[in-house]
Amino acid sequence: MFTKNFLLILVLCTFAASCTNDTDMTEANTTTYQEQHRPQLHFTPESKWMNDPNGMVFYEDEYHLFYQYYPDSTVWGPMHWGHSVSKDLITWEHLPIALYPDELGIICSGSAVVDWENTSGLSEDGEPPLVALYSYHNFEIEKSGADKFQYQGLAYSVDRGRTWKKYEGNPVLPNPGVRDFRDPKVIWDGDSDQWIMVLAAKDRIDFYGSKNLTSWYKLSSFGQNVGAHGGVWECPDLFPVWIPETGAKKWVLLVSLNPGSYNGGSGTQYFIGEFDGRRFRMDQEFGAHLARNKTEDRPAACWLDFGRDNYAGVTWADIPEEDGRRVFIGWMSNWDYGQVVPTGNWRSAMTLPRELNVASTPHGPRIFQSFAAEVQQLRNETKEFQVADGETDVTLEGLDPTRFEIELEVLASDTGRCYLELANDKGEYYRIGFDAAKNAYFSDRTAAGKKDFSEKFATDIHYAPKQIDGVLVQMHLILDNSSAELIADDGLVAITDLFFPNEDFNQIRLIKEDSTTGIQRLVGHNLKGIW
Ligand code: FRU
Repeated sequence: MFTKNFLLILVLCTFAASCTNDTDMTEANTTTYQEQHRPQLHFTPESKWMNDPNGMVFYEDEYHLFYQYYPDSTVWGPMHWGHSVSKDLITWEHLPIALYPDELGIICSGSAVVDWENTSGLSEDGEPPLVALYSYHNFEIEKSGADKFQYQGLAYSVDRGRTWKKYEGNPVLPNPGVRDFRDPKVIWDGDSDQWIMVLAAKDRIDFYGSKNLTSWYKLSSFGQNVGAHGGVWECPDLFPVWIPETGAKKWVLLVSLNPGSYNGGSGTQYFIGEFDGRRFRMDQEFGAHLARNKTEDRPAACWLDFGRDNYAGVTWADIPEEDGRRVFIGWMSNWDYGQVVPTGNWRSAMTLPRELNVASTPHGPRIFQSFAAEVQQLRNETKEFQVADGETDVTLEGLDPTRFEIELEVLASDTGRCYLELANDKGEYYRIGFDAAKNAYFSDRTAAGKKDFSEKFATDIHYAPKQIDGVLVQMHLILDNSSAELIADDGLVAITDLFFPNEDFNQIRLIKEDSTTGIQRLVGHNLKGIW
């Protein structure tokens, strides 16, 4: 989000805020969660601006979700950490703002951990403290022309995250002279017996170590010459995984990038390799195939999501070992237009929680993602559809076109697209499916309704190259009013996209352009709203 001239952003924010004030004033006090475009399955703040998920930590049966929050407007401004908790990753309880800006700066992105052994010494009564590490951004230092305006702070809670104290010795990690120096993600590494912090430093990820969370030493850097570099690196995550086929331990490094992602603007790439407590080294096998998706204008990288609306996502800390999952949530938007999307008194949603696993493929280890198992709790009615071979246009009766889940398996023909189309009586439509000629999944929001709010929003169809060879096309889709999340190819492909129809969609059809395309399985679920 940060660019060279922060002042310019502030001016733009103030301008945008004044432009949206009408909506703000009329809707600010009437949050109903039934507003036009309001997601019914996804986390959204009650009102005002939200971006990145922060401080995701599981403690005493609660998933904490903090988030970049500006309580005074529906556009970005001086950042706070908003806060909510969930017992099931599906329904959320809003809590008061956890962290406010202070004399050191505004509170940008970061993470939280349970300090089980009280290594920080911040707890006095034996209750392990929750410790948050976050980035300060200091406008005064920035205005003075100096580079060192981002540095890392610490806050802690000894009451299950309900109240937070800033550490007196802040900042715990000063700026070494890098303009972009932010978004610490902290994990405990038992093998090297230390806390590890990964931090985005402009065009690389810096690794720091600590014994107590309050004093940090530099370990290494990674990434200056690999992966996509069309913009600034942000919001990293580092976590271990075990490859099912061999039991081998590998490490995943997630790196968000803005701009320069596969389909433009903000997006998240990843690397898989070894981490020895000091250095991250990318696996040769993983790296050798990085160029696989490369075309003239696409950077060589592995993308967590090929859609345009999944950014700055990271995974939960401290999910108990007996559960053992890596659960991810991302910000369902894009800096290209996030501040002008046509929602009313709130802006932005998080993706649904997704489980990340790593397994071997002919192209080396890759992330496989799926909706977290809890998402199935949303189902309240299931319908199986039979599609005869000759049928090319099938209306999916009985599914609510504004909110549903589809599981689809197709034997693709050589040509023609096979897709779901949502449409309304205004002639607007959204399409998502598979394009056999391009051997790619696609999401088409070019005619899906409002788009004039940004010339970067709906310029083209978004494609995601098929990753598994063969004719079987497998898709899992969840649609929620103004968003589609597609997980395809067993989890190797994801497309997350927003759209804003002027009127709710009231028709769903499955379209086969080539009648020889075979539908193996088509199951739909109606879904309960969470608000
Ligand atoms: C990513 C980001 C982070 C930063 C935060 C500010 O979307 O730019 O790098 O900490 O947003 O809100």
